Amino acid sequence: MKKSIAVIKGDGIGPEVTNEAIKVLNTIAEQFNHEFEYKECLMGACAIDATGNPLPDETIETCLSSDAVLLGAIGDPKYDNDPTAKVRPEQGLLKLRKSLQLFANIRPVTTYKALQHLSPLKAGKADNIDFVIYRELTGGIYFGKKTLSEDGNTASDDCVYTRVEIERIAKLAFEHARIRRKKLTLVDKANVLESSRLWRKVVQEMAAGYSDVQIDYLFVDNAAMQIILNPSQFDVMLTENMFGDILSDEASVLSGSLGMLPSASVGSKVALFEPIHGSYPQAAGKYIANPTGSILSAAMLLDHFGLNDEANTIREAVNWSLQNGFVTKDIDSANSYSTSVVGDMVSDHIAGKIPGSAKGENIELRKSTII
Ligand code: IPM
Ligand code: MN
Repeated sequence: MKKSIAVIKGDGIGPEVTNEAIKVLNTIAEQFNHEFEYKECLMGACAIDATGNPLPDETIETCLSSDAVLLGAIGDPKYDNDPTAKVRPEQGLLKLRKSLQLFANIRPVTTYKALQHLSPLKAGKADNIDFVIYRELTGGIYFGKKTLSEDGNTASDDCVYTRVEIERIAKLAFEHARIRRKKLTLVDKANVLESSRLWRKVVQEMAAGYSDVQIDYLFVDNAAMQIILNPSQFDVMLTENMFGDILSDEASVLSGSLGMLPSASVGSKVALFEPIHGSYPQAAGKYIANPTGSILSAAMLLDHFGLNDEANTIREAVNWSLQNGFVTKDIDSANSYSTSVVGDMVSDHIAGKIPGSAKGENIELRKSTII
């Protein structure tokens, strides 16, 4: 199979982790006889520095003419700490989501046996966590009208949703629930917000067409609590943009590290794949960042191409690396490997270069010297 992939490495640790995902994709291409062509483009703080624009038109065009987009991360503290900044890296990401019509952000939340000791939950509570968050990505408060009064003392952000916006993502979530454990949880704040009441109404109406799927409705405050108290109750969680942003960060740490989780954003055009973590500027250039979220995003990208065996090969290799301790510092601070060595190990394992007993001298030598 021949595919072109637009690559936006972005800011902070974005380039470091994305390079590892590309390394792994290249190994998959060799092993399974595919050809992946990468087209690098700019977005975020690096794009502002180079062009003054967080999302140059050229980037949108490159993405639209590719078969998929692989994104690292964007963001820079020099903008976070300046509320008066007129241009921000995040504007690039939001505009890209809108331009590519990426209305559904899919964030699978899973835990790994090898990382159980890192979970903030008590032993046993993090077992059997396996759910998927469907976060609406191109509507709601993120994209509503914004105002700031002339005296600068009053500000507002509108949260607007239309039936069509709710229906199109709900359909994807229902369909996914159907091939999973057949349970859908709608998270909203329907006791307070009109927009949430519309979500509930639309989803209730659609439920008739999915009688095989059991539906639960949870207020977002309760959902935040349930994710900690009893996360294994969830199968598919459906929610609006901002609730999904907050809850998916909360859910991601159940696995033991924010660095583990991938995501896919889909819509009516090209799909985009990115780890859910941010640009982690404090770690940039130190090669300590965990590339797993990015590598697993590459696996989701392959699933999207219909290459499920290839995607599962990546997931098996990641499991193997976790089980054998080839991990970055966030997972094992005493015995850590650099970002690129973790990528090498996953990649070499896929290529069959590392036999069963992997703890050889050569590998020991690669151990990170960064403490
Ligand atoms: C995410 C991020 C973005 C969001 C930021 C960087 C705009 O937190 O993808 O979850 O809030 O959507
Ligand atoms: Mn977020």
